[in-house]
Amino acid sequence: MSTHDSEEDARNADILIWVDGALKPRHQATVSVYDSGFLLGDGMWEGLRLYQGCWAFIDDHLDRLFASCFAVGIDIGLDRAGVLAALEDTRRANDMHDGAHARLMVTRGVKDKPFQHPSLSRSGATLVIIMEHSAPRRIDGRGASLVTVPQVRGAPMAQDAKYNSHSKLNCVLACLQAERAGADEALMLDPHGFVNTTNACNFFVVRRGEVWTSTGDYCMNGVTRRKVIEVCREQGIPVFERNYSLFDACTADEAFLTGTFGAQTPVATIDGQRLGMAQGRRAADDAPALPGPVTQRIRRAYAGAVERDRQAQQAQQARQARSAT
Ligand SMILES: Cc1ncc(COP(=O)(O)O)c(C=O)c1O
Repeated sequence: MSTHDSEEDARNADILIWVDGALKPRHQATVSVYDSGFLLGDGMWEGLRLYQGCWAFIDDHLDRLFASCFAVGIDIGLDRAGVLAALEDTRRANDMHDGAHARLMVTRGVKDKPFQHPSLSRSGATLVIIMEHSAPRRIDGRGASLVTVPQVRGAPMAQDAKYNSHSKLNCVLACLQAERAGADEALMLDPHGFVNTTNACNFFVVRRGEVWTSTGDYCMNGVTRRKVIEVCREQGIPVFERNYSLFDACTADEAFLTGTFGAQTPVATIDGQRLGMAQGRRAADDAPALPGPVTQRIRRAYAGAVERDRQAQQAQQARQARSAT
């Protein structure tokens, strides 16, 4: 089981995929074996979720994509409006309105030779958008099982975790370690041994009504992570970006994962220890129900933030349509 499982949907066999300006059936949607994404993992991507016709927090996702590409010298070849238009063309071609997930990928493009040097990519960036009907398979009642793994998210001068890069080997290694240990996802520490993040999501604990997450120095600058921090502040829930240890994590009252795909996913165990049991609960069937009360409250507030963002996007579109006529 992974935290990114979705319900089977037969429509996904017939989706159209954006490949450099063309919409292609999935079995014809290919990129060159000389593409820098394939050869080196030299590219950036965004995971986006569609709620009632709108891509949630699209501005934040485009900010991260453009900043990451800029920082590594990838020219997407389109401005923000162009990327959004490609996304919307793909959505319309697939007749998707809600409950869809997109993986938007930009690589440095096709190389002349199968070697590393960025200057060998001369044809311009490759842009691919895979969009699938996607209903997350909720593991609410059961909760995710995490194990701590030897793989850490390294220091920013090795490979900054803020790059949502195609080269995810660091995360894949952690995920493999977790899978071999029989867990759903890997809990990764930072180079100093503090609790950091998981292989595919950001990680939060709830302790005595306070919400804690890592400092953010060694993990993906998740859009959902940022929104959770914002909604906690709006709701008056004390929230801290701070160092904390495995002791603090496994004795927490609640924990949850965040990501665009699953929003907030409750965590049941860390290294086999059930959360919420540290205050003297003994029997396993005495374990608190999932998701816990603070996670539920944050979920409701997050859903409200998604809806507000959707309304703001629609208002902006209406303004643009009026000024164009
Ligand atoms: C390693 C990692 N952490 C966290 C996240 C969650 O980020 P977001 O909330 O922007 O989806 C992702 C998603 O791309 C990720 O790859």
